[in-house]
Amino acid sequence: MKKIILVYCFIIILFQIAQALKMKKETQKEESRISFNTEWLFERFGSMPDGSIKTEPSGLEGTGIDDKSWRKLDLPHDWGIEGPFRMDLQSTSGKLPWAGIGWYRKHFTVSQNDKGKCFFIDFDGAMSHAKIWLNGQYVGEWPYGYSSFRLEMTPYIRFDKENVIAVRLDNPPNSSRWYPGGGIYRNVWLVKTDPVHLAHWGVFVTTPAVSKEKSIVRIKTDIENQSKLSAEVTVDIEIRESGKKEIAASLVKFNISIPADSIQLYETDIEILSPKLWSIENPNLYCARIMLRQKDRIIEMSKTIFGIRKAEFTADNGFILNGKRVNIQGVCNHHDLGLLGTALNIKALERQIRILKEMGCNAIRTSHNPPAPELLDLCDKMGLLVLDEAFDCWKKEKMPNDYSTLFEQWHKKDVRALVRRDRNHPCVVIWSSGNEVWEQNDIDLSRYMRSLFLADDSTRPVTVGCNGEETAFNGFQSSVDVYGFNYKTYQYKKFHELYPSKPYVGTETASCVSSIGEYFFPVSEDKSKGFFNYHVSSYDLYAPPWAYPPDVEFEAQDRNPSIAGEFVWTGFDYLGEPTPFGDDSLPSRSSYFGIVDLCGFKKDRFYIYQARWKPDLPTAHILPHWNWPERVGLVTPVHVYTSGDEAELFLNGRSLGRKTKEQFKYRLRWDDVKYVPGELKVVTYKNGKKWAEDVIKTSGEKFKINLGAETKIIKADGCDLAFITAKIVDKNGVMVPIADNLVQFTVNGPGVIAAVGNGDPTNHRSFQSERYEVFHGQCMLIVRSIKGKQGTIQITAKSGELESGTLKIVSN
Ligand code: GAL
Repeated sequence: MKKIILVYCFIIILFQIAQALKMKKETQKEESRISFNTEWLFERFGSMPDGSIKTEPSGLEGTGIDDKSWRKLDLPHDWGIEGPFRMDLQSTSGKLPWAGIGWYRKHFTVSQNDKGKCFFIDFDGAMSHAKIWLNGQYVGEWPYGYSSFRLEMTPYIRFDKENVIAVRLDNPPNSSRWYPGGGIYRNVWLVKTDPVHLAHWGVFVTTPAVSKEKSIVRIKTDIENQSKLSAEVTVDIEIRESGKKEIAASLVKFNISIPADSIQLYETDIEILSPKLWSIENPNLYCARIMLRQKDRIIEMSKTIFGIRKAEFTADNGFILNGKRVNIQGVCNHHDLGLLGTALNIKALERQIRILKEMGCNAIRTSHNPPAPELLDLCDKMGLLVLDEAFDCWKKEKMPNDYSTLFEQWHKKDVRALVRRDRNHPCVVIWSSGNEVWEQNDIDLSRYMRSLFLADDSTRPVTVGCNGEETAFNGFQSSVDVYGFNYKTYQYKKFHELYPSKPYVGTETASCVSSIGEYFFPVSEDKSKGFFNYHVSSYDLYAPPWAYPPDVEFEAQDRNPSIAGEFVWTGFDYLGEPTPFGDDSLPSRSSYFGIVDLCGFKKDRFYIYQARWKPDLPTAHILPHWNWPERVGLVTPVHVYTSGDEAELFLNGRSLGRKTKEQFKYRLRWDDVKYVPGELKVVTYKNGKKWAEDVIKTSGEKFKINLGAETKIIKADGCDLAFITAKIVDKNGVMVPIADNLVQFTVNGPGVIAAVGNGDPTNHRSFQSERYEVFHGQCMLIVRSIKGKQGTIQITAKSGELESGTLKIVSN
């Protein structure tokens, strides 16, 4: 008996070892895609940051080039954000020197053991007109800076010898209406496969039948055989809940034969019982692991994250997710990350989404181009819907060197790249083929564009962001699945009456403008009157001619409940497009449209959206600030944003009256308050019960700098960031909203300054500096960890006679 038990134990141990080895082998397999971000060499030519011209020598793609003196850097990299801001550069694209030519080179080796493999390089995005050579041989190109693309390097690889990859980027001037950035600004990957492998973006997971009891997951797999012989392959598919070990669905195994030099599509349906559906509240994800075997050798292992959900746009009831109406509370965002420029940083992206979620935002429109893939990963995980947009123009230009110059040759490839890359993300619920294109009378072109999306994904609708006065009624609406209104609130009713079966959504709304902390008097109701000295008053009443305050959209949405919701222009301020100060002769270099400023500081209207989008959260917010020494006795209107329905305002304890929100009014206003310093307090009520309060106080003299970090522990991975706010406060810790001190930062220990800045769109100090002025009392410091260096980072902030601020952050 003992012997039997021993043998039994021995077999179990052997089995476990075998399993462990198998798992190890499998894990190794997953590394067929490795990060290719480190140790690049970089040099600029053509238009240089200082405005001079540097001649681009020929032959920079060659192997014999002496590149030892080139700048060493790791990707992602945005050369434009390095500055300087220049008055002679266009305001619309941020007054930054992003135009010009950049070369990147990287030396690497490949082992002889990998002979016979296929080698690819994947760019998540390179701005722009990328041309790539390996060892002097031309590999390929991809001009649209927002597209992800793969190129094959196999024929040019040298084994056990040095390889040099050379990338030339060229940003023509006049190619963007906003700051595009410049450089290899997203991740780059080296991919190594067997000659038989999954085709690029060759896995497509859909969920044709969704219910709480049972769902069908359909997996389509393109398998490519790049060899000269036909191949017999076994395909294994397992589905797990993302991050879990247990298999959630039956394992599918099938044998297939793929002829030489061909791609074969295989399709299978897998049933999942009691699936955990993906939703905004519970963004449950699944992972499909696809394993390819030839004989007993694993030749490929891939993981595809997906969600099980049913999304529909309806004409009468807006957007429906898993059978439930979800009001789209969305924002449009550009791709830049404020002070950090366009260089992808997951922490910065995640922070943006966190701030938006805090406001009650549940959707993002990737205006007006394909986003970084990581944005979609985050939206999948954090439960946000995405309107995934391809272009800002089609054939007709908005800028002389924009996508119109590429459209003819590239639009099919770019749409295909976008759709095939993004179609497995549950967060993506709608495609947009374009924004405010000039061809809003070309129904055939729009239908054709739609067909390109449907060719690779027939499960999602396609829209266009339309701003033409006639577009909603000239037949164009028949060319899209969901009609996208840009700033046409007054057309919603007529549209729905005329086309009762066509879903519609506000693809772009509001475009209210403001500078954080600025308020101008007298407060004008005229939307074009709140502008002064390159700033816009923060009463949230001001907008360019085509646009309007948030309240106008809220009313239109409430009067037209069949609309699917809105995407506000914009969630975050962005570099470039400083409307209404967009003239190049003016100093403004970044937008005034953001609900949140370039640093991530919340402007006042954050709270009008939060009050509407999170009606159950007790909120109250008073504006303006209460430091007006020159206004004693003068009328200084007070507005309150609240999710309550009534409020009473008190100035130094004296009631200024209780007010009730009327129907179609979204703020409470005390327009005749005469300023005296002290304390302003609002007590709000909901259904007659106390709901929320806000108190603001006139500050005393400037006394010290307070430093506050959003997180006190970061990872020592060289990417993680700490966002630190520096505030000038009085003796009691009250922020001084009229302070404008210059603050000098010092960072000691295992961290470096990644960026500094404030919310002033006219400031030309470099974001890559060690000092910055506070704007209305505050500025931002972003500290990056150093890879592999752990310890305490000590931060000091100094400004003249003020007591310094200090802060410690741990990097581990
Ligand atoms: C829209 C346009 C956006 C942005 C916005 C500013 O017309 O689609 O890209 O320019 O105006 O209000």
